[in-house]
Order: sequence, then C-alpha cells, then structure tokens
Amino acid sequence: MTQGRGRHPARIRMKKPDQALLDRYMLVWSTRELHFHTGNFPPVTSQSIFGTNALLILDIGSATGELSHALAADHPDFNILGIEISTKPIWRSLVNAHRKNLHNVKYLKTDFRLLYPLMQPDSVQAAYLHFPVPVLTGADEKHAIFSERFLDALHIGLVDQGVIGFTSDNEHYFSDVAQRASQRNDFRLLTDKKECEAAVPLHKSYYHDVWERQGRLTQRFVLLNRK
Ligand SMILES: C[S@@+](CC[C@H](N)C(=O)[O-])C[C@H]1O[C@@H](n2cnc3c(N)ncnc32)[C@H](O)[C@@H]1O
Repeated sequence: MTQGRGRHPARIRMKKPDQALLDRYMLVWSTRELHFHTGNFPPVTSQSIFGTNALLILDIGSATGELSHALAADHPDFNILGIEISTKPIWRSLVNAHRKNLHNVKYLKTDFRLLYPLMQPDSVQAAYLHFPVPVLTGADEKHAIFSERFLDALHIGLVDQGVIGFTSDNEHYFSDVAQRASQRNDFRLLTDKKECEAAVPLHKSYYHDVWERQGRLTQRFVLLNRK
C-alpha cells in the first residue's frame, strides 16, 4: 500500500456552491501568481482576510473542514483560516460552515508553502498541521509541508506562546518530524499527552476519526513558540 492511498479528499464528489457562498467564504490565490508575484498579494492577516483585528488560527491542509468548524465554534474571538490546495474539499467546507452558521471561518485555496513571505509577526495564535501525507522518501520531499522554512515562518507569525499542533498516523514520520522539531531553540516541544492537552485541547480532524475507526495509532505533539 502506498502512503498516499486513502489520503486524497480532492476526489470527493461535490457540486460547485452558489457564487454568494464562494464570495463569502473562499479566496483563491493562484500558486503561479504567488510564486512569481508575491508582492501583488496582501499579508496573511485577519485584517486583510476578515476585515477585523482578531488573531488568526490556521488549519493547514484543511480538507473538508471538520477541524476548522470545531475551532470556529469553540473560538468565536479568533478568525479561523483553512488553507487547502484542492478545490472540492473547500467547497464542502464552506457549505457546511454556512449550514453551521459560522461567521469566523474562511478558506484560502493555495499552497501553504507559498504564503511564508506574507506571514506577519504576531498575527497567529495557533497553527494546526493534522495528518499531512507522510514524507518517507526523498521523492516525496517535494510534497512536504513540514520543514525548517515552515517552522521559521510560523515562529515569526505566531505570538509568544502560540502553538503548532501536529498529528500523524505514521510512527516513523511522526518520530522524524518530532526529532527535527526538538532541535529548534525557538520552540518548546511537548509530546506528553497531558502536557499537550493542557497547552491546546485536541480537536479531531476528519482523518483523525478515519484512522481511529481503522484502529491505527495516532500521535500528536505541540510546539510552543518562544519569542
Ligand atoms: C491527508 S489530508 C489531511 C486533512 C486534514 N488535515 C485532516 O486531518 O483531516 C492532507 C490535506 O492537505 C492538503 N494539502 C497538501 N499539500 C498542501 C499544501 N502545500 N498546501 C495546502 N494544502 C495542502 C491536501 O489537499 C489534503 O486535503
């Protein structure tokens, strides 16, 4: 079995939502444009995306939106931004956000890695990277979201004591990423279940439920930002 199998919410069936819903909940930032003309885009802040000054909570690879919905409902004083590279999962996310009457959530269709230059200091309270596709070979590396650059950008974007939540169902990948994160002086790594829960209560994403139903072990760490 390949590591990617069963991990592609892009393949869901989903009809295009009404334009009014798309306008309200979805931004599309072309990866090509971002790559070549980053300066044409606004900073990734609540002010530019939501028009308010609340801190952001990022759901990176938000897929069909379950985590972002739970976060939006539990944190009405924050703005939740789901960043997702595939269109159809975002369509499903926004239809359900509307059904749930959520006002503090939006979805940005783009590659998260192209947003690093647009991150603004102290603008983010928390960032979740839940169940990214495990990167186990050099060939997979080009798809990897977690990297030193990822941590550099979030170190700047997060407030002091802001958090990164990371989960994986792949033991090898989890250990590798945790080991790399532990080398950083600008974050404090928490792996103990109780310490993680005290720092940031766990909200389960879609794949968390899927893997648990299949009896797979899931693991989590939390990184506390140090400024
Ligand atoms: C295995 S799914 C996990 C989804 C969700 N986080 C969860 O736990 O249920 C990985 C998601 O990340 C998205 N993704 C992959 N690379 C991305 C990138 N560079 N930027 C934004 N989203 C990305 C994929 O399209 C997919 O929806």
